[in-house]
Amino acid sequence: TESLSVGELAKKLGREPSEIIKKLFMLGVMATINQELDKDAIELICADYGVEVEEEIKIDVTDLEVYFEQNEEDGADLSERPPVVTIMGHVDHGKTTLLDSIRQTKVTEGEAGGITQHIGAYQVVDNGKKITFLDTPGHAAFTTMRARGAKVTDLTILVVAADDGVMPQTVEAINHAKAAEVPIIVAVNKMDKPTANPDRVMQELTEHGLVPEDWGGDTIFVPVSALKGEGIDTLLEMILLVAEVAELKANPKRRAMGSVIEAQLDKGRGSVATLLVQDGTLHIGDPIVVGNTFGRVRAMVNDIGRRVKEAGPSTPVEITGLNDVPQAGDRFVVFEDEKTARQIGESRSSAAAVENRTEKSRVTLDNLFEQM
Ligand code: GTP
Ligand code: MG
Repeated sequence: TESLSVGELAKKLGREPSEIIKKLFMLGVMATINQELDKDAIELICADYGVEVEEEIKIDVTDLEVYFEQNEEDGADLSERPPVVTIMGHVDHGKTTLLDSIRQTKVTEGEAGGITQHIGAYQVVDNGKKITFLDTPGHAAFTTMRARGAKVTDLTILVVAADDGVMPQTVEAINHAKAAEVPIIVAVNKMDKPTANPDRVMQELTEHGLVPEDWGGDTIFVPVSALKGEGIDTLLEMILLVAEVAELKANPKRRAMGSVIEAQLDKGRGSVATLLVQDGTLHIGDPIVVGNTFGRVRAMVNDIGRRVKEAGPSTPVEITGLNDVPQAGDRFVVFEDEKTARQIGESRSSAAAVENRTEKSRVTLDNLFEQM
């Protein structure tokens, strides 16, 4: 910002113009509400409110990404990473049942005891290869993540009940995935039902651009019964196949970055956040900025409730140690030292607070006008 009027600055700071005018008066400047202020004057006032001018303008989430990109240490260390998969589909078509079924099929006996944990994402191993599933409903994941500009999904499973066919939310899911340029695998579910009609599902989806391979297209269709656990192995195979073609890569040797899957305040543990590491490796003790929060990774727990010391690319982990609760879809980046993480975290949070106050006052004004 090169220049702002007293009124505009007051609005940005969420203060009364008279308060700013008073402050300027104390500084020996007589000003009116329409008076233009130069950069120095703006900085002076902002400093008085403990707000950093630069940060106030760009609290964009992309900042963290830009930082991460600029700090690429060694691009040669890329290696294969597991695919991150979400499940989408119309109400009652079997998304939750499918997620449960996949999880149960692939849980090894030794881990069965730990399955009480729920962190919003989990990993399975199929033929020695990992797959990460996001547990959040696909639509919600796409909407919040996209609103924050984060891309977390590599692949989406579109669940369509064979006895019901393509429904409004099926179409919506297709549109979400297409907009995000995420490949779709169709799971034709409820095949155990006598009324199942997979041909109809294929026919209807063809009209939406998802043409089965058998019909000359390139969409993979897998008939499954989530309830009976049938077809799950084939589905997982197909996921790995699509992932292989996509050549998903990350550098496990660099400092971590990724996204928040979910977060909440826990009475005993404080701020608890489930993070998806998307690149690099996250370690206990890492100085981290998560959205507008910051801290040091105090404890890390994996999807089966075990404490871990590190988490590589495509791994979901639950962490504690943040000063506040971040939001789903927020980006996180690990910094070299705690001081930098703290500085960036603090300026992001105060910038966000200003933005928030401004938003609020705007709404109030609008409401006032509406009532008049
Ligand atoms: P929402 O979360 O409400 O959108 O539903 P959902 O897509 O998660 O569906 P959910 O898994 O809850 O399944 C809905 C109903 O369909 C439940 O009663 C399931 O038991 C049933 N169901 C799911 N998969 C199958 C299947 O393969 N066969 C049969 N017969 N029923 C199934
Ligand atoms: Mg469900």
